[in-house]
Amino acid sequence: MQVKTFEEYQQAYTKSVEQPEQFWEEIANHFQWKKKWDKVLEWNFKEPNVKWFQGATLNITENCLDRHLEKNGDTPAIIWEPNDPTEDHRVLTYKQLHDKVCQFANVLKNNGAKKGDRICIYMPMVPELAIAVLACARIGAVHSVVFGGFSAQSIADRIKDAECNIVITADGSYRGTKEVPLKSVIDDALVQCPSIKRVIVLTRSRTPVSMIKGRDVWWEDEIKKVETQGNVECPAEEMDAEDMLFILYTSGSTGKPKGVVHTCGGYMVYTGYTFSNAFQYQPGEIYFCTADIGWITGHSYIAYGPLSQGATVVMFEGIPTWPNAGRFWDIVEKFKVNILYTAPTAIRSLMSFGDDVLKGKDLSSLTKLGSVGEPINEEAWHWFDEKIGHGNCPIVDTWWQTETGGFMISPIAGVTKTKPGYASLPLPGVQPILVDENGKEIEGNGVNGNLCIKFPWPGMLRTTYGDHERCRTTYFTAYENLYFTGDGCLRDEDGYYRITGRVDDVLNVSGHRIGTAEVENAINMHSSVVESAVVGYPHDIKGQGVYAFVVSPGKHGNEELTRKDIIMTVSRIIGPIAKPDKIQFVTGLPKTRSGKIMRRILRKIAEGDTGNLGDTSTLLDPAVVEEIKNGAL
Ligand code: WT7
Repeated sequence: MQVKTFEEYQQAYTKSVEQPEQFWEEIANHFQWKKKWDKVLEWNFKEPNVKWFQGATLNITENCLDRHLEKNGDTPAIIWEPNDPTEDHRVLTYKQLHDKVCQFANVLKNNGAKKGDRICIYMPMVPELAIAVLACARIGAVHSVVFGGFSAQSIADRIKDAECNIVITADGSYRGTKEVPLKSVIDDALVQCPSIKRVIVLTRSRTPVSMIKGRDVWWEDEIKKVETQGNVECPAEEMDAEDMLFILYTSGSTGKPKGVVHTCGGYMVYTGYTFSNAFQYQPGEIYFCTADIGWITGHSYIAYGPLSQGATVVMFEGIPTWPNAGRFWDIVEKFKVNILYTAPTAIRSLMSFGDDVLKGKDLSSLTKLGSVGEPINEEAWHWFDEKIGHGNCPIVDTWWQTETGGFMISPIAGVTKTKPGYASLPLPGVQPILVDENGKEIEGNGVNGNLCIKFPWPGMLRTTYGDHERCRTTYFTAYENLYFTGDGCLRDEDGYYRITGRVDDVLNVSGHRIGTAEVENAINMHSSVVESAVVGYPHDIKGQGVYAFVVSPGKHGNEELTRKDIIMTVSRIIGPIAKPDKIQFVTGLPKTRSGKIMRRILRKIAEGDTGNLGDTSTLLDPAVVEEIKNGAL
């Protein structure tokens, strides 16, 4: 399944384009199916309708757990490093993880969970989070993991949209010196969610919680019940390849976050194949992915991808800068990490502390590095290469999205020649195409355009939960018969791809996707806000910062107080990750005669590039722009 040389990559790529069905069928044969497929692929991007491995049945957890037991039962599956370095780390072998997943799957069943139910998971980065995810998959329930930094309102929106019936959470979580009272946030969310019949609460921080009789139960008590029932094994539910595996919410340019749906068969094949190839994972290697399981990176490349390949994964509960900015490097040294997969924002943040924190750290175990989440700037790339990789670790810059399920454009470690800032070449099975505004293909090299994909791959989203039309209009109507990524992209003279960033109204703040419309809606909830417009601006650490132009009479009152209040409102409505970095009070927004906000102008002002604002002839009131320019922060 692994391509070992550049020639093999080229052969695999050619085959994947010329005979996609045969290509993916051979890959799929490396996995364990209960029943093989009748048909490899059926598709059209019009509806869209994409089905891989129709007629096949499987359970992804048998691929991630059971099939490793005979030979590798004692291989560590998860090495968990706690937030507090003085607390003991934990190791779960494949056998132990299998048993815990089965146990908890039985807990879910005891609490009424059935195949097809949607279960919301809001947990800290502890092994039980991975266990909860896999236990859902074991019984065929659909998990919807919500990142532990989202607010009660965001959780409620997601629970309602997916009509979840169970929540799995913990009393609280640790992040550096902070403690987040997860259960109490859930309690606030559930006021709006009558569909939830059961809340299972893990003990982590011992933060006091209130348990509601008949609704809330403790994880530990439920495990004990299963143990006394002697209910340790849990047969894996037989799932159709196209049955839903999970929903993961992500932001777009309009409206509320949408639930991206991934299915069992294709997602398994795709995450396993891409993990194995991009990182050239070898048995025994220690792989550390610094993401949170609450994001797609954690789903695909902490949980499913690595586990289906029998890998050993380091999972970290804390943050890169606590107790100090050497934390990642301590973890690398402690567990002799071979592969480190992290994000440009973390690299830039750690870089800013200077190289002293690297002194005395033994990073010699590292052989491969990875980056994800946003374009990596050259300075960060070189620092990562020289200071962390000591000039001899390939950097795998993986471009992909929540919707793609797995890596799309990425070097293959040691196989593809890398270039700073370039995600490089498409992986086998991926057919990128650049188009202009009118959807016309831009051929040749040394060109720029909107990045689309013209052929299905097994890991792609199938729908957006409860609203297939939204999936169609968001991804498949911008350009006919193409999947539109929302990214701008350059293809250089060598045919190498460099992602230039989003071309829609989606921000990328510290590698997290934030919809400007969502932030505006949150800001507008504040009683003294009339209207607002949010754009991104270049930020040294975060990549992009959130810049809000706010029309508010607060300008004439206590501006500082209103500013703080607005930030708090956004935190409460979405979560701290969406907090505006800058708020400029203005008396009006630049609008066209038809009332459309001219974001292009606001973006330029936020970027500090006011010299040439482009065509302003359609502006209703040009004076507004002068005022905003003069008051820019
Ligand atoms: C958006 C997807 C996929 C996991 C993390 C984010 C940007 C992601 C890269 C990269 C340049 C990147 C794109 C993409 N992005 N990886 N290696 N180089 N840009 O997932 O939240 O779905 O965001 O992140 O703009 O569209 P996501």
